[in-house]
Amino acid sequence: VQKIIIDTDPGQDDALAMLLAFASDRLEVLGVTAVAGNVPLALTSVNARKVCELAGRTDIRVFAGASEPTDRPLVTAENVHGKTGLDGPDLPEPTMPLQPGHAVDFIIETLLAHPPGEVTLCTLGPLTNIAMALQRAPEIADRIGRIVMMGGGFFEGGNITPAAEFNIYVDPMAAAAVFASRAPITMMPLDVTHQCLTTRSRLQAIHRLGTPVSKAAVELLEFFERYDEAKYGTDGGPLHDPTVIAWLLKPELFSGRQCNVEIETASPLTEGMTVVDWWQVTDRRHNALVIRDVDADGFYALLTEHLARL
Ligand code: BDR
Ligand code: CA
Repeated sequence: VQKIIIDTDPGQDDALAMLLAFASDRLEVLGVTAVAGNVPLALTSVNARKVCELAGRTDIRVFAGASEPTDRPLVTAENVHGKTGLDGPDLPEPTMPLQPGHAVDFIIETLLAHPPGEVTLCTLGPLTNIAMALQRAPEIADRIGRIVMMGGGFFEGGNITPAAEFNIYVDPMAAAAVFASRAPITMMPLDVTHQCLTTRSRLQAIHRLGTPVSKAAVELLEFFERYDEAKYGTDGGPLHDPTVIAWLLKPELFSGRQCNVEIETASPLTEGMTVVDWWQVTDRRHNALVIRDVDADGFYALLTEHLARL
């Protein structure tokens, strides 16, 4: 059983990632840490608990983390996720409490309490909490089994600016610190997530499960897809964050290569760009496994199978 911490800014696709993780008996979720991103922290920390309760997992510990990026004002994405960040289904206000203490302390303490390599960080939002933890306790870099992140884009370009993907753009300084940290990284960029379209038939397969969770999942996905579907003219929209969990459960669905990734933090035009040395034209350190391709049908089969368990 793989121990994970989910660091997240829910977000409909974050919610689906959490549900996928909760449904697996091969993952033990040590905690969920909320960060500001798609919507402010006051909402992401509520949304994270709404998703736990939807899955019947009131035993999961949820912590609130950073409310602002490292060195700039927060940019949010209500245009994509709606006013609450989790628009779509009508989920009740959570009754489970937020844990006392800061998410960053929880991350540090948890990593230090486990042998090196045992805990994987799954990051689904801006990397602010992780960078804060690394800055406060640099010794955790050797403890992190792996950081599996949704973020960036290279051949596919950006989704918040022509050059940058949202999670990296919101806090490029944090992303730069994470890529420089020497912790093993798997990066799930837009190049992958744009292949994972929420097509009619895939949503119907989830709908046919006929459970309260599957109903909420379809409502989340239908709200989420309307923004990108209109933009890209595809059948359904991309699904981002669940690819992180899917990679842990079934890495053979994905392919990529080990290479160097650097983050642009200074240029106004390309701020937050993930500069991926895919063709190995530099001798810079290979600091990430960059995923480029996915078996999208296999991914949706895995997701649907797991949702059926909740
Ligand atoms: C990422 O940004 C957020 O809007 C999504 O939840 C996902 O993590 C995609 O760029
Ligand atoms: Ca997210």
